[in-house]
Amino acid sequence: MFNAMAQRLQELMVLFFLAIFSKAVAGLKPYARANITPDTAINNYCLSWRLAVETNNVRGWRTVPVQCLRYIEAYMLGGQYERDVEFITEQILSYVSGIDLADDGLDAWILDVDDTCISNMFYYKGKRYGCDPYDPAGFKAWALMGGCPAIPPVFRLFRNLVETGFKVFLVTGRDQETLGQATVDNLHSQGFIGYERLILRTASYKGQSAVTFKSDIRRQLVEEGYRIWGNVGDQWSDLQGEFLGNRTFKLPNPMYFVP
Ligand SMILES: *[C@@H]1O[C@H](CO)[C@@H](O)[C@H](O)[C@H]1NC(C)=O
Ligand SMILES: [Mg+2]
Repeated sequence: MFNAMAQRLQELMVLFFLAIFSKAVAGLKPYARANITPDTAINNYCLSWRLAVETNNVRGWRTVPVQCLRYIEAYMLGGQYERDVEFITEQILSYVSGIDLADDGLDAWILDVDDTCISNMFYYKGKRYGCDPYDPAGFKAWALMGGCPAIPPVFRLFRNLVETGFKVFLVTGRDQETLGQATVDNLHSQGFIGYERLILRTASYKGQSAVTFKSDIRRQLVEEGYRIWGNVGDQWSDLQGEFLGNRTFKLPNPMYFVP
């Protein structure tokens, strides 16, 4: 009799403490939310910043906002960057599959090189994902090593274009004289074989904007009779100007801006 009562009392005590404890946990919740608020605010800001940059609403930016370092790192390394590139590549392939090629060998496609075909992410990791300003000498030294890895979805697009019969032109603002051989070697080592031409910046285009240089290259191709069906780049300056091609596709790049 006494034992049964003691047990009942014990059960009540447990319930009582459980109630107190859960109340305490519930009471903690607002504090826990308060604790994560700063990070959430930074994340939200950086997502807005990245969207504005990708949509070309923010232009001429020189560095990534330093509070977005971790955000950009997570975006680049955490899988979302690759998923975004993959998603866009699927759209491109669906467009490609609807094109009827002529048999004159003049159906053309333009791909940018840096952070379109091959990635500079490892270099930019050392530049705090673009929080540090552009360093021409540092980039040149990196490019000369020829170690940029292919961006897998774009590599698959490249193979598809070549196999479908497009003449693929790789157009890059890299300096021909100093980086030409390293760039050819890098592309080949990553499997970029079968393109029609790799066009680098020659001395006569030195100091010109990417828009001017690339527009002029595209004009020459159109004058040669090529029909530019598509144009893919990670910079808006790849996709602005003249003779853009029937469709342009912007790949993500939240690390740097090329005017
Ligand atoms: C592609 O662009 C050219 C030049 O602007 C145009 O003449 C042609 O009709 C376009 N083709 C298609 C299928 O949109
Ligand atoms: Mg590029």
